[in-house]
Amino acid sequence: MLVDEDAIASRLDELALEITKDYEGSNLTVVAILHGGIIFMADLLRRVHLPLKMESVSVASYHGGTQSSGEVTFNQIALPDIDGEDVLLLDDILDSGRTLHAIRAKLEREANPASIRSCVLLDKKTTRAVDFKADYVGFEIGDEFVVGYGLDYKGHYRNLPHIGVLKPEYVDGC
Ligand code: IMP
Ligand code: MG
Repeated sequence: MLVDEDAIASRLDELALEITKDYEGSNLTVVAILHGGIIFMADLLRRVHLPLKMESVSVASYHGGTQSSGEVTFNQIALPDIDGEDVLLLDDILDSGRTLHAIRAKLEREANPASIRSCVLLDKKTTRAVDFKADYVGFEIGDEFVVGYGLDYKGHYRNLPHIGVLKPEYVDGC
């Protein structure tokens, strides 16, 4: 196991405290990236003691494997209403950086937010293909394919309460 339930819970306490301090008095809208960001969002935001709004965006970048395709496809036409809002993007993991980079660029271009920052539970620092830095990071990990706590392999394992490395023998099976 890479990150157990207790370690996740105490890191979420710390992140939520930081976010609560930083966004005091802001018009905060948290935008989760579906589906991976859902569990992270639910657990994190119940620890953030501020008025806020919740939104989501849906994109695809892996297309079912363990390697990013390099293309980010938006699965929705309408973007969330974030006009004038201080936006915090939430995703399960930052890998090549393409997903968050593309989402931030599109929201900045088309949805007129007051500000955009990002928060990820996991950061694979060594695998970046574009220049992108998250403002809040739960844990830095190595270049391994991980599942659980929102992270999937071909749609499976998202509901595991901890984060683990996917064993090679499970690749292409479930
Ligand atoms: P990026 O665009 O390469 O930064 O990838 C970000 C997206 O790829 C995340 O939102 C995840 O959905 C997915 N991803 C990247 N690494 C992993 C992993 O180790 N396990 C599961 N999903 C991953
Ligand atoms: Mg994903």
